[in-house]
Amino acid sequence: MKTLTRIGAAAFGLALTATTAFAEDCTTLTVEDRFDLEGEDIVALYDCLSDKLAAGYAKEGDAVGANYRSWAPTATRPAIQGSHGTRILNTFANDIAAEQYLKFEDEGVNMPVGSILAKESISLSIKKKKARPGPLFIMTKMEAGSIPETNDWLYAGLQPNGKVMKVKQSFCHDCHEAYEDSDYLAYPVEEVRLGQDQ
Ligand code: HEC
Repeated sequence: MKTLTRIGAAAFGLALTATTAFAEDCTTLTVEDRFDLEGEDIVALYDCLSDKLAAGYAKEGDAVGANYRSWAPTATRPAIQGSHGTRILNTFANDIAAEQYLKFEDEGVNMPVGSILAKESISLSIKKKKARPGPLFIMTKMEAGSIPETNDWLYAGLQPNGKVMKVKQSFCHDCHEAYEDSDYLAYPVEEVRLGQDQ
């Protein structure tokens, strides 16, 4: 009887391993350069990790991490930009931010207080030939005048396991500063912006 139980457990263990291996197969990269990834490859990688991303960011109960998926999508599909490392990116805008953000204006933008943008990321390691969940990058527009250095933007992030990342405001803002005319927003790459004429 004991032997039988053990065999049963072993078989179960094997089955689990096989399932896990299969589930992770879809994160394998076949290209030599991230820019060789076509739109459909990016969508396939995203679909493969999509549930894991959302579950991970929500894990510690963070208000943004647990809710951003119900916000407005801003792109027709996730895309690779380049500035946020070797990553696939996908941004969501909360109710307060969505109307203005989705205009993707280049000038005179002043986002309303309470706007939140949350950007999912998937890290790509060409060397390891693997895609895995990356941080959720977050920008929140605080009360007018509260953070003069960043025009009231608070930069934040969650690790893929939902834990709060330590974020140096100047690290994020030094780069976002290039987008001053659009209230420091960089927007998704043009080809995937939602509702834009291609
Ligand atoms: C080297 C430049 C650079 C740095 C550093 C950087 N960002 Fe970004 N960020 C960008 C670019 C470019 C985009 C638009 C990319 C895209 O979505 O394709 C962006 C987009 C975003 C967005 C979506 C809103 C928008 O601008 O359209 C958020 C949220 C964000 N970044 C947060 C952060 C946080 C938090 C940090 C610091 C931990 C950070 N960023 C550091 C360049 C940078």
